[in-house]
Amino acid sequence: MMPDGPDQHPQHVERLAAYWAEVMGGPPRYSESCADHTYVLGLHAGNGDMSDLGRRFVECFVEAADDAALPEDPEFRAALRAYMQWAVDEVLVYGPPNTPVPPALAMPRWTWEGPQSGV
Ligand code: HEM
Repeated sequence: MMPDGPDQHPQHVERLAAYWAEVMGGPPRYSESCADHTYVLGLHAGNGDMSDLGRRFVECFVEAADDAALPEDPEFRAALRAYMQWAVDEVLVYGPPNTPVPPALAMPRWTWEGPQSGV
């Protein structure tokens, strides 16, 4: 997820929204109409050392929840933060050049209790 740039999909915002909505238990629009989780990890893979980009990504996401005036319910906000921390950690696993991404990975599912087992 980055600001508009020459290399990103023209429907980036919509596709990212569909992805996150599906992860959070919404309709399977991303996996049915866009791509799978392997594709998403592959987009982010092999970029090398990300320094503290992952930590800053989480902080931006948390602040965006404020900007978007999402409900302040602490349990909800904690679940959002925990999801994004988990997701960033997963993306960063594939950061080193030539780290293979397993094929046909299922979409993650994030619940109030964390990642759905089996994911
Ligand atoms: C660590 C910092 C991250 C950076 C620098 C980053 C960068 C990018 C870039 C440059 C793209 C556009 C690629 C393209 O359209 O070809 C992208 C797409 C995307 N990113 Fe990230 N990303 C990051 C973290 C994440 C995380 C944590 C998630 C999931 C929770 C995520 C989910 C996605 C999705 C769903 C897309 C769109 C895929 C599509 O168009 O089908 N990103 N990201």
